[in-house]
Amino acid sequence: MTSIQPLRFPENFLWGVASAAHQNEGNNRNNDFWQWEQTGHVHDGTTSGLATDWWNAAHRRAESDFARAAELGLNTLRLSLEWSRIEPAENRWDDAAIDRYRQLLGTLRELNITPMVTLHHFTNPLWLAERGGWLAADVVARFERYTAHVVDALGDLVDLWCTINEPMVYAYLSHLVGDWSPGRHNFPQTFKVAATMTLAHRAAEQTIHARQPHARVGLVKNQPIFDPLRDHQPDKMVAGWQETLFNRRIFQAVYEHRLHFPLNFFAKGIAAGQEDFIGINYYGRHTVKFSLRAPFTMFGEPFIPPHAEMWDEPWTDREIYPHGLYRVCMAAAKYKKPIFITENGLADAADARRPRFLLTHLAALHRAIQAGADVRGYYHWTFVDNYEWVEGWSTRFGLIALNPETQARTPRRSAEMFGAIARANAITPEIVAEFAPDAMDAVFSQK
Ligand code: FCB
Repeated sequence: MTSIQPLRFPENFLWGVASAAHQNEGNNRNNDFWQWEQTGHVHDGTTSGLATDWWNAAHRRAESDFARAAELGLNTLRLSLEWSRIEPAENRWDDAAIDRYRQLLGTLRELNITPMVTLHHFTNPLWLAERGGWLAADVVARFERYTAHVVDALGDLVDLWCTINEPMVYAYLSHLVGDWSPGRHNFPQTFKVAATMTLAHRAAEQTIHARQPHARVGLVKNQPIFDPLRDHQPDKMVAGWQETLFNRRIFQAVYEHRLHFPLNFFAKGIAAGQEDFIGINYYGRHTVKFSLRAPFTMFGEPFIPPHAEMWDEPWTDREIYPHGLYRVCMAAAKYKKPIFITENGLADAADARRPRFLLTHLAALHRAIQAGADVRGYYHWTFVDNYEWVEGWSTRFGLIALNPETQARTPRRSAEMFGAIARANAITPEIVAEFAPDAMDAVFSQK
């Protein structure tokens, strides 16, 4: 074993966990997702309720979770701000909400945990939703105004900003598949929302930089791998469409300043800007074959390859595919910007597969860094089990298990393992031997 060299990460690498306001704070009653939960759209019928109870200052649950993250050796944490708390009615600003965010961010700073803060993570204030949400004519201006308010109020505590989380996922689920509010099935609107969010990202990026020139700003994009089932034209064509529409269009708009979403005649282009990093969320691979039965996915029907290791319910058409993390990093590396893996994780209540999942994904990330990708940090999704959108409480992504009734926390073994990796700034053979010995070959054989 002594001959195996540890996989060392670059100096000052950021090791952290990611979260989102609605999934963690609790009692976020003033946004469209809360309303969606109350009206029977969540598959297991649960509601977010107290979530992980991070909002209630008296309970100090966020504070004690943050302290535990610091004890494990984590040095960064990604959280999002809830627009509907900060601007509860149009152009009315809540100072108490800002104060609570100042407490949370101040606590992170005291613990030497660098906060990464997302401005929009899926939820919209009810007043905005009522006016058409991301189809409202003035949504970009409204988002810009909210951004300015937040940067003025919190900029002394934050210099690492994500503007918008996963615009394509949001547009797709809310306006094409209809699983999320407002539950539409409309192709032109889907692309309009995606284009508008891209423009809103640009406006926010410029607003932040104008007020806080040294801040680092980026967009967070979910980048799945889409591979064709067979090496034949129809399958390759649909996988290519998915890759182009879901992954490439946003990157082209943001990093190449070419805005061309299909069916969008309104958008006149996008200004050049300054992205300081590329945020990537990575959750796996979709293998697709051509089928006329799948119009919402560009005629690409999911196919489960015979030997693939698949996710469990509810995402059974998604493959656990660590090498994909290498591929998405190398594809993004062509823009020659720092990269953060802003999310990566697995739903696994029993924590049976997570240790191996984490190790093999981090090994793939290490390979990408060796090959020249400028990766600066990794955020695991998530720290404490939280409310998983329309999957409700039945899907458990946490390094720490949560009982939402009692709010009791029980660390899973993966928490200990992730901490050991962060403290070593490396994957060592000892860590693999202790937590997932069967992953030894997969981790240390450089493919
Ligand atoms: C991502 C979301 C995040 C969480 C994970 C599992 O797409 O950004 O909020 O739901 O998936």
